[in-house]
Amino acid sequence: MGYIKKRILIADDEASIRNSLARLASTIQGYDITAVETGVEVVNLTNSKIFDLILLDIFMPEMNGLEALGKIRAGGMNTKTPVIMVSAHSQLRMVEEAAKLGADDFMVKPFKNQMLLEKVYRYVNANVERKWNNLKPEQEKFLRMSVNTLDILFRSAKEGVALPLGQAHDLSEHLIEVVDKGGVYDILDAIRNHDNHTFTHSLRMGVYMTLFAKSTGRFVGENRINLTMAGLLHDIGKAKITLDIVSKPHSLEPHEEKMMKEHVELGMETLKANPRVQEPTMKICWNHHERLDGSGYPRGLGKEELDIYSRMGAIVEMFSELAEKKGKSTRHAHYEALGTIRNTPEWYDLDLLKYFEATLYQNHAPGQL
Ligand SMILES: [Fe+2]
Ligand SMILES: [Fe+2]
Repeated sequence: MGYIKKRILIADDEASIRNSLARLASTIQGYDITAVETGVEVVNLTNSKIFDLILLDIFMPEMNGLEALGKIRAGGMNTKTPVIMVSAHSQLRMVEEAAKLGADDFMVKPFKNQMLLEKVYRYVNANVERKWNNLKPEQEKFLRMSVNTLDILFRSAKEGVALPLGQAHDLSEHLIEVVDKGGVYDILDAIRNHDNHTFTHSLRMGVYMTLFAKSTGRFVGENRINLTMAGLLHDIGKAKITLDIVSKPHSLEPHEEKMMKEHVELGMETLKANPRVQEPTMKICWNHHERLDGSGYPRGLGKEELDIYSRMGAIVEMFSELAEKKGKSTRHAHYEALGTIRNTPEWYDLDLLKYFEATLYQNHAPGQL
């Protein structure tokens, strides 16, 4: 099944707020936004349609937000949908009342765009994450651990505090275990409709990197863990770029693209401040956007300067970006992505690619590297 757009319901009687919320939320990833102005409309809509997130103003005519929230939680199709209450005043009594009725969060107007984006990202994937309950227990456990650990890692990078590398190591070990038990497509399919791009992209890079490492027969034990961790951490510099840019990687304006490209240098700054980071992570972070003919960034390195880690990182980065396109089955997207990479031998090491290809199709790898 293809990608399904997330549905957000916004209820506020102030048109300006309603419009700016709708505009902002729709720039994130092309969400399907419905904006209404009364509590009655909210109740009618939530009885007939499932939403992924509801932003609910407290003071509205006819029926206020608290009453509407009570009705949403009492029955209908959105008893479990995350609800963020919005109000111009933060009175403790109201916040408590909203929490008691089942609100997930509370925001005071006016709020900064970045804050709204953070909230939307935090809650809009709840329906997707709830479906992880249907996976094998170790897969579900691994995915929940991934959300938490990657969140902690990226927050640490953003705040400039030490990266919890022990947790990244544990997550890498779990990832290897789940992948080696044949769970690759279960995991990739489970995050297909998840919209936190930094989370899904980092996780995919970890999955592809661990497959690649194994296929070469050259990286075992700690070495394979290190390459897996490199996949998870390669874009850690994105932690320092604002969410409105990071969240739309495929349709950036030129000035935004310039800012986005800075994630490599920002990532290196973070890693250099963490002396226990291993060589594969440094190399892959630095060089995953480089190309063999020197046309990549940030340094335009050529093939003599790009070692095996850098070459593997560049292949997996492009593969991951191509295969992430929404609306296609994972296997089909993989097949197409490999074809595209194979067509650019001037950029990627095709002798290395053969190992990665073999592991994806579960063929025999072309011997040990
Ligand atoms: Fe990157
Ligand atoms: Fe990346």
